[in-house]
Amino acid sequence: MNISNPLRVVGISGSLRQGSYNTALLRAAAELMPPEMTLEIVNLAPLPMFNQDLEKPLPEAVVEFRSYLAQADGILIATPEYNSSVSGALKNAIDWASRQPKPPLSGKPVAIMGASTGNFGTVRAQVHLRQILTHVGALPLGKPEVLVARADQAFDAEGNLLDEAARGFLRDLLVAFTRWIRQVSPA
Ligand SMILES: Cc1cc2nc3c(=O)[nH]c(=O)nc-3n(C[C@H](O)[C@H](O)[C@H](O)COP(=O)(O)O)c2cc1C
Repeated sequence: MNISNPLRVVGISGSLRQGSYNTALLRAAAELMPPEMTLEIVNLAPLPMFNQDLEKPLPEAVVEFRSYLAQADGILIATPEYNSSVSGALKNAIDWASRQPKPPLSGKPVAIMGASTGNFGTVRAQVHLRQILTHVGALPLGKPEVLVARADQAFDAEGNLLDEAARGFLRDLLVAFTRWIRQVSPA
Protein backbone atom coordinates (compact mmCIF):
# COMPACT_ATOMS: atom_id res chain seq x y z
CA MET A 1 0.00 0.00 0.00
CA ASN A 2 1.37 3.43 -0.94
CA ILE A 3 1.67 5.85 1.96
CA SER A 4 -0.60 8.91 2.03
CA ASN A 5 0.38 12.54 2.23
CA PRO A 6 -0.10 13.61 5.00
CA LEU A 7 0.64 10.29 6.72
CA ARG A 8 -2.48 8.69 8.08
CA VAL A 9 -1.98 7.39 11.63
CA VAL A 10 -4.59 5.51 13.61
CA GLY A 11 -4.41 5.91 17.40
CA ILE A 12 -5.40 3.15 19.79
CA SER A 13 -5.87 3.69 23.52
CA GLY A 14 -5.70 0.49 25.52
CA SER A 15 -8.01 2.02 28.14
CA LEU A 16 -11.80 2.15 27.82
CA ARG A 17 -12.06 4.56 30.76
CA GLN A 18 -13.82 7.87 30.12
CA GLY A 19 -11.09 9.96 31.76
CA SER A 20 -8.24 7.79 30.51
CA TYR A 21 -4.73 9.25 30.68
CA ASN A 22 -3.76 7.11 27.70
CA THR A 23 -6.54 8.53 25.56
CA ALA A 24 -5.44 11.97 26.77
CA LEU A 25 -1.89 11.10 25.70
CA LEU A 26 -3.18 10.35 22.20
CA ARG A 27 -4.93 13.73 22.17
CA ALA A 28 -1.63 15.35 23.17
CA ALA A 29 0.02 13.49 20.28
CA ALA A 30 -2.56 14.91 17.86
CA GLU A 31 -1.64 18.37 19.10
CA LEU A 32 2.14 17.87 18.96
CA MET A 33 2.54 15.85 15.78
CA PRO A 34 4.30 17.30 12.75
CA PRO A 35 2.03 18.70 10.00
CA GLU A 36 2.95 15.81 7.71
CA MET A 37 0.93 13.46 9.95
CA THR A 38 -2.75 13.14 10.92
CA LEU A 39 -4.28 11.12 13.75
CA GLU A 40 -7.63 9.39 14.00
CA ILE A 41 -8.39 7.73 17.35
CA VAL A 42 -10.39 4.49 17.20
CA ASN A 43 -12.58 3.31 20.06
CA LEU A 44 -12.03 -0.26 21.22
CA ALA A 45 -15.24 -0.41 23.29
CA PRO A 46 -17.48 -1.86 20.52
CA LEU A 47 -15.18 -4.87 19.98
CA PRO A 48 -16.61 -8.07 21.47
CA MET A 49 -14.35 -10.42 23.42
CA PHE A 50 -12.44 -12.53 20.94
CA ASN A 51 -14.11 -15.87 20.31
CA GLN A 52 -13.26 -18.09 17.36
CA ASP A 53 -16.93 -19.02 17.15
CA LEU A 54 -17.71 -15.39 16.23
CA GLU A 55 -15.36 -15.27 13.26
CA LYS A 56 -17.81 -16.42 10.56
CA PRO A 57 -19.10 -13.89 9.81
CA LEU A 58 -16.91 -11.32 11.54
CA PRO A 59 -18.84 -8.89 13.77
CA GLU A 60 -19.37 -5.50 12.08
CA ALA A 61 -17.29 -3.69 14.75
CA VAL A 62 -14.36 -6.00 14.00
CA VAL A 63 -14.65 -5.50 10.24
CA GLU A 64 -14.62 -1.73 10.78
CA PHE A 65 -11.68 -1.87 13.21
CA ARG A 66 -9.59 -4.06 10.91
CA SER A 67 -10.34 -1.79 7.98
CA TYR A 68 -9.14 1.30 9.92
CA LEU A 69 -5.87 -0.49 10.64
CA ALA A 70 -5.47 -1.75 7.08
CA GLN A 71 -5.86 1.74 5.62
CA ALA A 72 -3.47 3.40 8.09
CA ASP A 73 0.13 4.25 7.26
CA GLY A 74 1.04 3.69 10.89
CA ILE A 75 -0.50 2.85 14.26
CA LEU A 76 0.16 4.79 17.48
CA ILE A 77 -0.68 2.79 20.60
CA ALA A 78 -1.06 4.33 24.07
CA THR A 79 -1.01 1.46 26.51
CA PRO A 80 -2.01 1.49 30.15
CA GLU A 81 -0.32 -0.98 32.49
CA TYR A 82 -2.58 -3.48 34.21
CA ASN A 83 -0.83 -5.83 36.60
CA SER A 84 2.50 -5.37 34.83
CA SER A 85 1.11 -6.03 31.36
CA VAL A 86 -1.20 -4.60 28.70
CA SER A 87 -4.92 -4.24 29.30
CA GLY A 88 -7.32 -6.98 28.27
CA ALA A 89 -9.01 -4.53 25.90
CA LEU A 90 -5.77 -3.92 24.00
CA LYS A 91 -4.81 -7.59 23.84
CA ASN A 92 -8.32 -8.41 22.64
CA ALA A 93 -8.08 -5.82 19.85
CA ILE A 94 -4.71 -7.18 18.73
CA ASP A 95 -6.09 -10.73 18.77
CA TRP A 96 -8.91 -9.67 16.42
CA ALA A 97 -6.41 -7.88 14.20
CA SER A 98 -4.07 -10.87 14.07
CA ARG A 99 -6.43 -13.22 12.24
CA GLN A 100 -6.30 -14.27 8.60
CA PRO A 101 -7.04 -13.26 5.91
CA LYS A 102 -4.74 -10.24 5.53
CA PRO A 103 -4.00 -9.56 9.23
CA PRO A 104 -3.86 -5.75 9.16
CA LEU A 105 -1.00 -5.32 11.64
CA SER A 106 1.34 -7.48 9.61
CA GLY A 107 4.08 -5.28 8.15
CA LYS A 108 2.53 -2.18 9.75
CA PRO A 109 4.75 0.44 11.44
CA VAL A 110 3.72 0.95 15.06
CA ALA A 111 4.82 3.47 17.71
CA ILE A 112 4.26 2.73 21.38
CA MET A 113 3.76 5.00 24.38
CA GLY A 114 1.98 4.74 27.70
CA ALA A 115 0.82 6.49 30.85
CA SER A 116 0.29 5.01 34.28
CA THR A 117 -0.25 6.32 37.77
CA GLY A 118 2.59 4.12 39.02
CA ASN A 119 6.26 5.06 39.26
CA PHE A 120 7.44 3.12 36.21
CA GLY A 121 5.15 4.59 33.56
CA THR A 122 4.06 1.38 31.76
CA VAL A 123 7.59 0.09 31.14
CA ARG A 124 6.52 -3.51 31.83
CA ALA A 125 3.39 -3.24 29.68
CA GLN A 126 5.45 -1.80 26.84
CA VAL A 127 7.89 -4.71 26.93
CA HIS A 128 4.97 -7.15 26.67
CA LEU A 129 3.36 -5.08 23.93
CA ARG A 130 6.53 -5.17 21.82
CA GLN A 131 6.64 -8.93 22.17
CA ILE A 132 2.99 -9.30 21.08
CA LEU A 133 3.41 -6.89 18.16
CA THR A 134 6.50 -8.69 16.92
CA HIS A 135 4.56 -11.95 17.01
CA VAL A 136 1.82 -10.54 14.77
CA GLY A 137 4.37 -9.21 12.27
CA ALA A 138 4.03 -5.51 13.10
CA LEU A 139 7.09 -3.25 12.93
CA PRO A 140 7.40 -1.47 16.30
CA LEU A 141 9.65 1.60 16.42
CA GLY A 142 12.44 1.05 18.97
CA LYS A 143 13.17 4.55 20.26
CA PRO A 144 12.51 7.08 21.67
CA GLU A 145 10.41 5.63 24.48
CA VAL A 146 7.54 7.63 25.94
CA LEU A 147 6.62 6.57 29.46
CA VAL A 148 4.45 8.90 31.51
CA ALA A 149 4.78 7.93 35.18
CA ARG A 150 2.54 9.34 37.94
CA ALA A 151 0.06 10.36 35.25
CA ASP A 152 -2.29 11.88 37.83
CA GLN A 153 0.32 14.63 38.22
CA ALA A 154 1.39 14.87 34.57
CA PHE A 155 -2.10 15.76 33.28
CA ASP A 156 -4.53 18.41 34.48
CA ALA A 157 -8.19 17.73 35.28
CA GLU A 158 -9.18 18.30 31.61
CA GLY A 159 -6.63 15.75 30.39
CA ASN A 160 -4.08 18.25 29.09
CA LEU A 161 -0.50 16.98 29.26
CA LEU A 162 1.30 19.56 31.39
CA ASP A 163 4.62 17.77 31.91
CA GLU A 164 7.09 19.59 29.63
CA ALA A 165 9.59 16.73 29.57
CA ALA A 166 6.87 14.29 28.50
CA ARG A 167 5.72 16.71 25.79
CA GLY A 168 9.28 16.86 24.48
CA PHE A 169 9.64 13.06 24.41
CA LEU A 170 6.28 12.78 22.66
CA ARG A 171 7.33 15.30 19.98
CA ASP A 172 10.56 13.36 19.42
CA LEU A 173 8.66 10.08 19.16
CA LEU A 174 6.32 11.49 16.52
CA VAL A 175 9.17 12.88 14.42
CA ALA A 176 10.98 9.53 14.64
CA PHE A 177 7.72 7.78 13.72
CA THR A 178 7.32 9.79 10.50
CA ARG A 179 10.84 8.70 9.51
CA TRP A 180 10.15 5.09 10.51
CA ILE A 181 6.94 4.93 8.45
CA ARG A 182 8.76 6.28 5.38
CA GLN A 183 11.69 3.93 5.97
CA VAL A 184 9.77 0.67 6.28
CA SER A 185 6.77 1.29 3.99
CA PRO A 186 6.92 -0.02 0.44
CA ALA A 187 7.44 2.77 -2.14
C1 LIG B 1 -6.56 -3.67 37.03
C2 LIG B 1 -5.52 -2.59 37.19
C3 LIG B 1 -4.18 -2.94 37.31
C4 LIG B 1 -3.21 -1.94 37.40
N1 LIG B 1 -1.89 -2.29 37.43
C5 LIG B 1 -0.95 -1.33 37.34
C6 LIG B 1 0.42 -1.68 37.16
O1 LIG B 1 0.81 -2.83 37.08
N2 LIG B 1 1.32 -0.67 37.04
C7 LIG B 1 0.95 0.66 37.08
O2 LIG B 1 1.82 1.53 36.95
N3 LIG B 1 -0.34 1.01 37.25
C8 LIG B 1 -1.29 0.06 37.37
N4 LIG B 1 -2.61 0.40 37.50
C9 LIG B 1 -2.97 1.82 37.62
C10 LIG B 1 -3.07 2.45 36.24
O3 LIG B 1 -1.81 2.96 35.87
C11 LIG B 1 -4.11 3.60 36.27
O4 LIG B 1 -5.38 3.10 36.61
C12 LIG B 1 -4.17 4.35 34.95
O5 LIG B 1 -4.95 5.50 35.13
C13 LIG B 1 -4.75 3.47 33.84
O6 LIG B 1 -4.69 4.09 32.59
P1 LIG B 1 -5.88 5.02 32.02
O7 LIG B 1 -5.84 6.31 32.81
O8 LIG B 1 -5.51 5.25 30.59
O9 LIG B 1 -7.17 4.28 32.21
C14 LIG B 1 -3.60 -0.57 37.43
C15 LIG B 1 -4.96 -0.25 37.32
C16 LIG B 1 -5.90 -1.24 37.19
C17 LIG B 1 -7.36 -0.84 37.01
